[in-house]
Amino acid sequence: MIFKRLREDIESIRTRDPAAHSRLEVLLCYPGLHAVTFHRVSHWCWTRGARVLGRFISHVGRLFTGIEIHPGAIVGPRLFIDHGTGVVIGETAVIGADVTLYHGVTLGGTSLHSGKRHPTLDDGVIVGSGAQVLGPITVGKGARIGANAVVLTDVPPGVTMVGIPARMVMRRSKDTEFCAYGLPGESLPDPVARAIDSLRGQVAGLIERVTELETELHGHPTLGCARLPHLVGGEQTGPEPGPDHTRPVGKSPDQPALERETGS
Ligand SMILES: CC(C)(COP(=O)(O)OP(=O)(O)OC[C@H]1O[C@@H](n2cnc3c(N)ncnc32)[C@H](O)[C@@H]1OP(=O)(O)O)[C@@H](O)C(=O)NCCC(=O)NCCS
Repeated sequence: MIFKRLREDIESIRTRDPAAHSRLEVLLCYPGLHAVTFHRVSHWCWTRGARVLGRFISHVGRLFTGIEIHPGAIVGPRLFIDHGTGVVIGETAVIGADVTLYHGVTLGGTSLHSGKRHPTLDDGVIVGSGAQVLGPITVGKGARIGANAVVLTDVPPGVTMVGIPARMVMRRSKDTEFCAYGLPGESLPDPVARAIDSLRGQVAGLIERVTELETELHGHPTLGCARLPHLVGGEQTGPEPGPDHTRPVGKSPDQPALERETGS
């Protein structure tokens, strides 16, 4: 039974971590695997009344791995804790099957009463590095928690939550296949292209607004998109319209100078 579980854990780590090259490597070098194995023993002691022994085994596991799993926590099959250092899992936490946690994750409590005070993670949840999931809340099946998010409320199944406090950014597609680091493998966005796209959108919006304002002011657009077709993807149609914009503001006949208004 123990060996069957261990083999299952090793296989699940290999499928979820592109950096895992062999079973032996996983067995020897993955603190997450060691911590879960320590937890199985400490939980066995805990549920049979040997509470101090359970705590002690959990403590030894923490010394070796940097991962603290309270022996009272209920951990489902194939939990993968990647890197692991700094992970804390509280006494009344419940973790479903095939959950992935990265380093620095806390499944913590927010109150001092002795009942259920830690989160429940349903099957297939992925929690990014440094995220804090706090209180007796439930994170729905297949949900993803972004790195460094602080989650304080229930999370519906299949959604992605980011930020502090965490807010929903998207619903997950029907494709529930595991994505390492919570990211879809083949379509990683090019951040520079995304930034340029976003800037182009903003420039187009600004030009539209300037055109509207100029039309209101002068009865016709004087700048518009015509001068910046390469930025907004428009075509230059005809000669550049409007007066000379090198003239200082306030010197136009239809927009009296400040000096004239103030008499200075
Ligand atoms: C949350 C996560 C799963 C979302 O990935 P995704 O589906 O590819 O989503 P995107 O990158 O398209 O981001 C969607 C939006 O959320 C924002 N976002 C993503 N991750 C965020 C985070 N951790 N904190 C704050 N905002 C975040 C993005 O800026 C984007 O906002 P926008 O729509 O305003 O541009 C991913 O960003 C994440 O944090 N994964 C954990 C990775 C990890 O811990 N790795 C450790 C490896 S050792």
